[in-house]
Amino acid sequence: MKRLIALLVILCADSAIAAGNISSGNNAAGSSDAGKILFASVCQSCHGQDGAGDGPGAAEFVLRPRPFSQAAFKFDTDSDWEKGSDLDLANVIKNGAAAYGGSALMPSWPALTDENVLDLVAYIRSVGPPP
Ligand code: HEC
Repeated sequence: MKRLIALLVILCADSAIAAGNISSGNNAAGSSDAGKILFASVCQSCHGQDGAGDGPGAAEFVLRPRPFSQAAFKFDTDSDWEKGSDLDLANVIKNGAAAYGGSALMPSWPALTDENVLDLVAYIRSVGPPP
């Protein structure tokens, strides 16, 4: 598993792409159904089913991802004093958490399109508490 994670990190190392035209706020326009499918194939290994933070890939991490169900988001990537806005989630997904002082265990995903990212944000919202 460690080798898989190392490979992921290497594959995703050349990142730092801005999250395009995704705005601040909390009204992701993406499709949570499409996001769910993508999440299951790319993110669930670490983030667990429904983003509970208990995926097998994260079992040996010192720092585990927080459950999305609690929406206890950590990153304010655009310094607007709001953590976990659509733009914050999108930035972390595209650029990785290390770009914002977080853990390199959350890699960057430069291959995802803005649409993919919006779908993932919509999915993360869908497993969170009601607005
Ligand atoms: C290799 C394991 C791993 C994979 C795969 C992974 N993540 Fe993460 N993710 C993490 C860890 C660990 C953190 C916590 C980082 C921190 O707190 O510094 C995290 C944090 C996040 C956050 C930040 C939430 C906050 O607290 O503000 C988001 C959003 C996120 N991940 C989304 C995703 C999405 C979407 C995918 C799939 C495209 C994904 N992650 C794939 C390990 C992973």
